[in-house]
Formats: sequence, C-alpha cells, structure tokens
Amino acid sequence: MSKIATLEIDGKKYEFPVIIGTENEVAIDIEKLRSETGYITMDPGYKNSGSCKSDITFLDGEEGILRYRGYSIEDLAGKANFLEVAYLLVFGELPTKDQLFQFEEDIRKHTLVNEEMKKIVEGFPRTAHPMGILASLTSALTAFNPKPVNVENEKEMYQAVCKTMGKFLVIATYTYRKSMGYPLNYYDNTKGYVENFMHLMFELPTGPYTPDPAVVDALNKLFILHGDHEQNCSTSTVRMVGSSHAGLFASISAGVSALWGPLHGGANQAVLEMLEEIQANGGDADKYMAKAKDRNDPFRLMGFGHRVYKNFDPRAKIIKKAADEVLATLGVDDPILQIAKKLEAAALVDDYFVSRKLYPNVDFYSGIIYRAMGIPTEMFTVLFAIGRLPGWIAQWKEMRINKEPIGRPRQIYTGYELRDFKPMDQR
Ligand code: SDX
Repeated sequence: MSKIATLEIDGKKYEFPVIIGTENEVAIDIEKLRSETGYITMDPGYKNSGSCKSDITFLDGEEGILRYRGYSIEDLAGKANFLEVAYLLVFGELPTKDQLFQFEEDIRKHTLVNEEMKKIVEGFPRTAHPMGILASLTSALTAFNPKPVNVENEKEMYQAVCKTMGKFLVIATYTYRKSMGYPLNYYDNTKGYVENFMHLMFELPTGPYTPDPAVVDALNKLFILHGDHEQNCSTSTVRMVGSSHAGLFASISAGVSALWGPLHGGANQAVLEMLEEIQANGGDADKYMAKAKDRNDPFRLMGFGHRVYKNFDPRAKIIKKAADEVLATLGVDDPILQIAKKLEAAALVDDYFVSRKLYPNVDFYSGIIYRAMGIPTEMFTVLFAIGRLPGWIAQWKEMRINKEPIGRPRQIYTGYELRDFKPMDQR
C-alpha cells in the first residue's frame, strides 16, 4: 500500500509519494517539488535529507544497530575476516571459500605499485601529514591506470576492485616509511592482507619481522568495524565526485580528503591528542568536561557525539572491549585508557551529554589500540581509510550501476540584487 505526503502552500495542496525502506524508514520523494511548487527545501548538513536508496548498509541511530548487507556488525567483527567483509560490501554476498581464496589471489596480482610513484613520495616534506600524501597518491594512481573502468562490465569492475584494494594498502604505508627514513616496502604475497599492513609498516631490510597475532586479529576487527557507514561525509563525497563519472581512484582520493577532517575520521587522531593533553595537565577530566560544555569554548570532547547515533555507537562498544583485550595481551598498561574510561563514565551521567544524546563513537577508543600497536598518531586516520575503502568502493559502484544523476544541490541566494558596474575611480 503506497503512502502519500501532502504539503499545503498558500492554500494549495500538493501530494508527494512516500518511499518506505526494508527496515520501514520513510522518506518523502520530493523529486517533483520544485517543478510543481516552485519551492526547494533547505537542510544544512543534510541532517534530514536522503541522497539515495542503498542496499549496502543499514544503521539505526536510535537503537544503535549497524548491519552490512543484512549481517550484524557484531557477527561480522566476531566471526569474519576483513577481506570476507570487503567482498560482502562490494559484491553483496559473503564469499564462498573458493571465492575468498580467489579474491585474495586476484588482489595479490595488483599489489605492485609503479616505481615512478616513489618519486611523488620523495617530493613531500617528511613532516607532511599521511592523509594529505594518501589523497595525493590515490589520485596519482589514475596516471598509471588511465583507462576508466566500464562499470557495466563485471570483469572490468572486479579487476578495478582488486587493483584498488591491492594498491591502496601499499601506498597508505609510504608516508610512515618516509617519515622514518625507511625504504618503501613491497606487499608480501606469501602473507595475508591484514598481516601485510604490519609488514608494509614495520618490516626492515635488516631482518625478518613477524607481527604479534593478537595485533593482526585486532586490526582485522578494527578494519571490519570501519568497513562502511552508509552516507557519512566521506562516503557521500565519494558518491558525489563519482556522480560526475570521475574515476574510482579520483573519487576515493576525494573521500580520503573528506575523512581527514577532525569532525570525521580525523577524530581518532584528535581523541589521542586530547587524552594526551589531559594526561599532561594532571589527568583532570572534569576540567575538560567543563570546556566541552562551555558554548564559548570551541573545545569539543573528541570521539563523542554522532550525527546519526543517538545511542551507543555499536562499534565503540566492540572497540572498547578490544582495547582491554589487546592491551592486556600486549602487556601494555596505558594510563590514557584509564583517562578515556573516566571521561566516558563522567559524560554518561552528565546532563549536558545525556540531554544531547552524546555517546562515545567509533573514534573514541580506536586510537588507544593503534597506539598500543606502535602505530604513530598521525597514521590513525590512514587506518580508518584502509577499513573504509571497501565501503567507498561498494557505494561508488552502486551509485554508478544505478545510473544516479550528477549531484548538484540547489541554494537560496541572499547576496546583492542587480547593481551597476562601478568604474575604478569611483570605488
Ligand atoms: C565519524 O557520519 C558518520 O557515520 C561518521 C562516522 C563514520 O563511520 O563514517 O561514524 C565516523 O566521523 C564519527 C564522529 C567523529 N567526530 C568526533 O568525534 C568529533 C566530535 N563530535 C562532534 O563534533 C559532533 O558530535 C559530530 C560532528 C560528530 C556530529 O555533529 P552534529 O550531528 O552536527 O551535531 P551538532 O554539532 O549539531 O551538536 C549538537 C549539540 C551541540 O550543542 P547545542 O548547540 O545543542 O548546545 O551537541 C553538542 C553541540 O555543541 N556537541 C558536542 C559534541 N558533539 C556535539 N559538545 C561537546 N563535545 C562534542 N563532541
């Protein structure tokens, strides 16, 4: 049974169809609003506006639910591996054993990055932020893979997915290696995808390197938890850029830049810097809680709050538990973790946070685990990007296959009315 929404303007009634999703989310289809009424809507930050229909991820902010292609994040983080989830996000189904084996094999065919790319890395100062370099290198991949992918051709699209998964992981570690003055590493096709991240980051020419299996397991879980998150800022950016039919690498590069912001993926770095500042100032969490609540103080409790989750971010719950496990396994006793727990406990009973439904989000605890793994703070958002890559690819692919129109929002003009040109001697 179809539903209708009625709008009355100046005494005239207009009817618009209502879209009802699988989980009974409802939207008013305003595709004909302007042509029928002359009006547009205004919604800064798109807090109430849907940009697309999608089969990939479902999240319920009130209930704290997150599912990829119908599977709960709890099941996937607890029972799957990252490439399995990447395959699920991009192709829609969990892979069979043979499909997963072949997917990993096919990614391995694309893990060599053109040696010329190293010249681009050399051009950056050692102090350059990894996210800026990653955005540049991702876009530069287009120069070495200029042929646009034909999204209608399944084989070509599959190869583009494997190429992106293979090369992005390698270039993501270049910044760290350069900042340390280390030679750039190559993907080791005898190792697994997630284990290769640690190999690419920390293997030195002077001897063999074997990452702690507990670290690889934790990374596997963290990458899964970051896999996709429907129309967040960076994913919407990937879809927007891709809607002009810009290539996959160019669209992902734009997503990396959007993720970099401290209000978005950059928050995991900002959380650690905030916790370290609190620690340096004697661990007085109350002082920083007061700053976060002071409207005249721009300070925000980083890692808290979310545009959609008005309940616990289910990912934060899983990561908090993993933080305890990983630090215990690695024998790391990090006072920063205690400060984080103190902050969380204080915020969960403080009216300012409770009334605004501000809970820890995915970024609040992740940095504590990365730090225990020996990952430098500036690399935290790069790890977020590695986890989010399959989600970006899946969303870009869905947008192109659904032949969505080029994104081009409207506006309400509030500038000068028509005025005469003023000659220089009259200004
Ligand atoms: C991610 O969208 C996604 O799905 C993103 C993400 C993903 O997986 O892709 O989940 C990943 O980006 C998580 C969010 C990481 N960012 C941070 O942790 C930065 C700190 N959080 C905030 O800046 C904020 O909560 C946002 C940006 C996350 C959400 O901002 P909104 O939805 O625009 O909410 P808002 O800024 O309008 O805040 C509502 C109120 C305001 O107070 P009042 O004007 O009502 O008095 O809550 C306050 C805000 O000042 N508020 C905070 C706060 N977050 C919101 N006050 C103090 N500290 C905070 N962290």
